[in-house]
Amino acid sequence: MMTTSSESAPPDPPVASLAPMIECPFPIYKALRENSPVTEMAPGVFMVTRYEDVLRVVKDTETFSSRAPRNPFAWFGDPERQDELDAILSRCPEMPTLLDNDPPEQTRVRALVAKVFNESNVAALEPAIAELIDDLSSSWLRRGRVEFAAEFARPLPAAVTALALGADAAMTERCLFWADEIMTRTAGPQTPERQAEVARGIAEMSDYFFSLIAQRRAEPRDDLFSLLTRVELDGERLTDIQIVNVAKVFLVGGNETTMFMLTSALHRLATEPALAQTLRDAPELIEPFLEEILRLEAPAQGLPRFPTRDVELHGVTIPAGSTVFVLYGSANHDETVFDDADDLVLDRRARGGYKQHLAFSVGPHFCLGARLARTEGRLALARLLPKMTNLALATDAEPQRAANPLLRGFVRLDLEFGDAHDYLADRPPLSQVT
Ligand code: HEM
Repeated sequence: MMTTSSESAPPDPPVASLAPMIECPFPIYKALRENSPVTEMAPGVFMVTRYEDVLRVVKDTETFSSRAPRNPFAWFGDPERQDELDAILSRCPEMPTLLDNDPPEQTRVRALVAKVFNESNVAALEPAIAELIDDLSSSWLRRGRVEFAAEFARPLPAAVTALALGADAAMTERCLFWADEIMTRTAGPQTPERQAEVARGIAEMSDYFFSLIAQRRAEPRDDLFSLLTRVELDGERLTDIQIVNVAKVFLVGGNETTMFMLTSALHRLATEPALAQTLRDAPELIEPFLEEILRLEAPAQGLPRFPTRDVELHGVTIPAGSTVFVLYGSANHDETVFDDADDLVLDRRARGGYKQHLAFSVGPHFCLGARLARTEGRLALARLLPKMTNLALATDAEPQRAANPLLRGFVRLDLEFGDAHDYLADRPPLSQVT
């Protein structure tokens, strides 16, 4: 079933199969923006695709709430044994995080977190992030070949988040595991056993961060996690549960998104050698390049909102209680807002009349990690690109995209680089050659 706007609607549901949405959703988005800007893609599930409409929805938090109306374990299927889940989570009951809460409560927590993740505190992390980049890349840079997603783009954001949260570096793997566990809840209905397993993972994560809070309160350091325990605004401080929730949303919101920004960037550079060379020659273009990657390949293509009342948009009635996906990925290609919307234009900002892309959203939920993610991307490209000459996709392995149409980026990306792409040749390690 599909309800469309009053403007001439396409005859068939344009999203009958997910495969085109994953490979290249942009022609579908374009058709929707033109013909059916508000589309009911499944009963009670709507998509909003135009830039101005996405802005309207994300700014109107009273009408379009971020609070999922159901238990978070029930995103795609009801929890069958809620009592069991509640018992597992008793020490740290699930409550809305920044992402799935609304003003004014969300605004207060957000203001405190933003005070900690400010420009100078993030800038102070740069040397440590650069070191992480060098550590993670040193072995494969000598190899001339890398599976970039697994060997770099996935571990880097997890290590940076762990660093920013003041967690032990040895906890990076565990942080990734917890983030994956939490994300499984959005991947479809789970068995009661699996739901309990995920709840145990969340409880373990909460316990870890509770003990870290206790340590930092007892012996304050100057890491950002210590600052979270002390930050104050108008006499208000974050509670322990709120701090654990911040850690949780950082793990969930910061890992895959940054991984997808990095993999999309490297995929583009591996397929456009001239562009890669332009950035090597003029590293100051790395920042505008990343902004264009974020715009064109928004890692979070869409996120849900939950209408609190019946609301009409482009002649379509969206009932209270339904789910509305704001498609940032489509808004960023809106040709009424961006000239040559599908092209990567390095001097877009310099052309004037620039409008901000929505890869990090805008307004009340604007990404609190945007500065950190941009820093990771800029430093990674600046340090890796000069060493990855002759960058190309490996010829013997296909890049693999994330299978979720709400996310865009690669889960597997094999790259070759170096003088002769001779990594397969039986050669001694460079250390023995030099
Ligand atoms: C390229 C990487 C990233 C992208 C594309 C991205 C994207 C987004 C988007 C679209 C939102 C808005 C959510 C909504 O509309 O409901 C958001 C919110 C958020 N992001 Fe990011 N994010 C990235 C990296 C990070 C990182 C590295 C962190 C932290 C370590 C982070 C932490 C957050 C938090 C805490 C929020 C919630 C803000 C609020 O609701 O007040 N993000 N992000």
